[in-house]
Amino acid sequence: MLWIPGPTEVRPEIFEELTRPMIGHRSAEMVQFIERIDPGLRLAFGLAEGSTSLVAVGNHSATAMMEGSLLGTGPRVLSVVCGAFSKRWRDIAQLVGKDVTTLEVEWGRAVTGEELARALDEHGPFDAVTLVLNETSTGAFTPLAPVAAALREHDDTLLLVDVVSAIAGAPLDFDTNRIDFALAGVQKALALPPGICVLCASERYMNQAKGRERRAWYLDPVRTIEGHVARKTPATPCIPLYAALARQLEDISSGATLPTGERGKSGADAWTARFEKHARMQARTKRWAASHALELFPDDAVASPTISCIRAGSIDAAALIAGLAERDERIGGGYGPLKGETFRIGHMGDHTEEGLERLLTTADDVLG
Ligand SMILES: Cc1ncc(COP(=O)(O)O)c(C=O)c1O
Repeated sequence: MLWIPGPTEVRPEIFEELTRPMIGHRSAEMVQFIERIDPGLRLAFGLAEGSTSLVAVGNHSATAMMEGSLLGTGPRVLSVVCGAFSKRWRDIAQLVGKDVTTLEVEWGRAVTGEELARALDEHGPFDAVTLVLNETSTGAFTPLAPVAAALREHDDTLLLVDVVSAIAGAPLDFDTNRIDFALAGVQKALALPPGICVLCASERYMNQAKGRERRAWYLDPVRTIEGHVARKTPATPCIPLYAALARQLEDISSGATLPTGERGKSGADAWTARFEKHARMQARTKRWAASHALELFPDDAVASPTISCIRAGSIDAAALIAGLAERDERIGGGYGPLKGETFRIGHMGDHTEEGLERLLTTADDVLG
């Protein structure tokens, strides 16, 4: 079983969708796939009733849209950096020529509303803020309400959020949290094979982006979003992944992926139940770590519901990972500078609590 921080396990039903006969991407069947995707994506991004924000699918990995999202913003960017992926976004902003200010936050911590408000006041005004919601490298999840509060007085500043390892594992409440642009791959808590990315943009983002010269074709989010609204893709898309995404979103929304006792739930209730399953798996993993006198790398208050990054302490992380792999259970090592010092368990997507128990018992055996 694949318990790395993504890609994660994919259900057989999803693999079946991938083996459907090929169709044309300008066909009526393709339009149907796009139409089936929309309601589930709106639930995944937690759009408010009557929201004017728009969802879309991008035919590339999430990193491409980290770059693309910046095409719609002005030059002044504040990048919150608290791990490897938020650093990647900052580096991309610099590479594409933005005037970037970095708000450096110690790895394992999440930015606070006060820190963000101070940076906005002292170094602003900014056209955009980049933030990674769930830092896959550290297992820290940034609470968004304080971020939204810090931006209250900064009406023209766009909030761009990478929700790669958060979507479908935790509520996003896109509109309530004042997000302007969110992007995610599908290989984490959405539990699909990698290859496409999903995105959501606010009316404010679209209005600002449309007024700018966007010197790109493939990566232009406005082209992708407007195409999606018109039920068209700018170029030939990864058609099998559209079928898989439509099926997965419908299965999540109908409660089909929930634990047996909760299968009656549907719509937003089914999504909430999925988030609660992730929270229980996080709590269980933390208890398991404590039973071996191990601590989470991030502060407990910001521990990720989808990825537990655990300090290896006196344990040999490489030996644990190798011992588990011999028993066909795969967990992840520490990322970048945290290699050796931490290991990571991705308890996300369609993994079950029973599966997690088996993994943790096997880990007990290996450690024993
Ligand atoms: C938080 C986060 N952002 C961005 C990425 C990059 O995603 P991709 O490899 O799909 O481009 C990852 C991948 O692990 C991630 O975890």
